[in-house]
Amino acid sequence: MNPATNNAGDQIVQINLLINAMDATPEGGKIVISTGIRDKGPDNWVEISVRDNGTGIQSEHLDRIFDPYFTTKGVGEGTGLGLAICYKIVQSHGGFLEVVSKPGQGTEFHVLLPMRQETPAILDTE
Ligand SMILES: Nc1ncnc2c1ncn2[C@@H]1O[C@H](COP(=O)(O)OP(=O)(O)O)[C@@H](O)[C@H]1O
Ligand SMILES: [Mg+2]
Repeated sequence: MNPATNNAGDQIVQINLLINAMDATPEGGKIVISTGIRDKGPDNWVEISVRDNGTGIQSEHLDRIFDPYFTTKGVGEGTGLGLAICYKIVQSHGGFLEVVSKPGQGTEFHVLLPMRQETPAILDTE
């Protein structure tokens, strides 16, 4: 079983999520990366999560964070493109991105990628 993803895209997503987590914890904090398998309906998904205990995201911003050029950062600090790019990459692999955030407490991003059943090797049964 392999996640249906390519390495470069995967790394871009993880780096973007990590930089955002670092930006959200300017005075230091805790950033946790975890991986797992999520059993969801008939399919299994590879789950990569990045969690921080930083600023959190205000609820009125939550449905805009994936929009290109949406940023709450200052000029020269944020382009607002990171999450839009992550979203596109994850979507192009048939996956999706989830966010859970509590203002003042922190944020969790979950990248879910479909698991692909590997074609079994044909055995020579001679
Ligand atoms: N881990 C996080 N904690 C708090 N806010 C976040 C986090 N990740 C993203 N955001 C919010 O989402 C916005 C968009 O993120 P992104 O697309 O990466 O652009 P940028 O980082 O350039 O602002 C950020 O400006 C910030 O308001
Ligand atoms: Mg960013």
